[in-house]
Amino acid sequence: MKSNFRQGANAVIITFFAIIGSTVLLPMVIFNPSPSGHGNQYEKNKLAQTDPARGRQIYVREGCFYCHTQFTRLQDRGYGPLVQAGDYVDETPHVLGTARTGPDLTNEGGRFPSEWQKAHLINPRALKPGSIMPSFSYLSDRDMNDLVAYIQTLGNRRKVTELVEAPDEYTNKSTYGKELLARKHVDTKADASANAGRGIYTQNCAACHGLQGYGNGPNALSLEKKPANFTRPFYKQYSDEFWFYRVTEGVVGTRMPRFGEVLTEEQRWYLVAYLKTLPKEKEEVIDNVDQLNPVQQIKLPKLSHQQWEPASGGE
Ligand code: HEC
Ligand code: HEC
Repeated sequence: MKSNFRQGANAVIITFFAIIGSTVLLPMVIFNPSPSGHGNQYEKNKLAQTDPARGRQIYVREGCFYCHTQFTRLQDRGYGPLVQAGDYVDETPHVLGTARTGPDLTNEGGRFPSEWQKAHLINPRALKPGSIMPSFSYLSDRDMNDLVAYIQTLGNRRKVTELVEAPDEYTNKSTYGKELLARKHVDTKADASANAGRGIYTQNCAACHGLQGYGNGPNALSLEKKPANFTRPFYKQYSDEFWFYRVTEGVVGTRMPRFGEVLTEEQRWYLVAYLKTLPKEKEEVIDNVDQLNPVQQIKLPKLSHQQWEPASGGE
């Protein structure tokens, strides 16, 4: 009887150490990524007045990482280029964070002017009404300036082009991708394909993205996250595979549907051929309601007197 209890206890203890060993100890020993060259560069510049490395210590001291993460994942949108393990080799202690009470700060550097960052740290509500971020107005001038200098370095060595790389399932790098590309028979460079794509676009996409791809279709009015404006020069860097991937998987966190579920592969390749013809040289921004496609006013026929009062009889 007694030995049976001991067996159970032993099993529990062994399982516990097996889990700790395989998830904590083993990775510590065998996981040694080499520097990626894209980690943050926050060493002090000799001429600079501020010290980003010291700012980083203040970031840790004030517990910014309780609410802010510093890692972008494939499914994150709007947080900029993705990170690699090697980005963190020099980061001790790391400030990856776990909770996203506030937005991810991986690529925060340069997103706002330093004066904005400072004003926001002093009084978050002044710039973001309803923000629950605490005020850090008690920081000394030196602490504040160093902290802002640190924020401005975040992501300073990540190239934006890395954002524009289709996942392996869509490229020759995986068997699935190879099969997909082998099945592709649409010539995405041909005018005829673009023409075919145009029809599919008008049917499925124009309501949101607009007939000319300016992101100003009638549905755009009611969307919190506006449809993409394909005429931005930014889209010139998109490869066929990347266009295909974006159309197929939609955009998480927006109303952009996953067209992989709706359209055939062939139709999506035709769309790619058409989308590629849209990007233009000049940036055109929609920043007020008047620029949206006006909805045609419905014209009702003028009613005659008789139609007005059909049952009243007489004048
Ligand atoms: C209690 C949680 C919390 C803490 C602690 C916190 N923040 Fe925030 N932070 C937020 C929230 C929520 C937002 C989003 C609303 C806003 O912008 O104010 C935010 C927004 C931000 C932004 C703007 C990001 C963007 O791109 O819009 C920056 C920069 C920032 N915080 C930096 C810091 C720094 C630096 C610290 C530490 C000194 C810190 N935060 C501490 C919750 C927090
Ligand atoms: C219900 C509205 C809606 C419809 C319909 C729609 N989209 Fe979108 N689309 C969006 C929104 C919203 C986004 C997100 C924009 C953003 O992330 O800023 C988006 C984003 C995209 C993107 C990604 C752009 C980028 O920045 O990488 C592509 C590509 C795209 N749409 C293509 C299409 C195509 C092709 C169709 C038709 C087959 C279509 N969309 C139909 C709303 C729509």
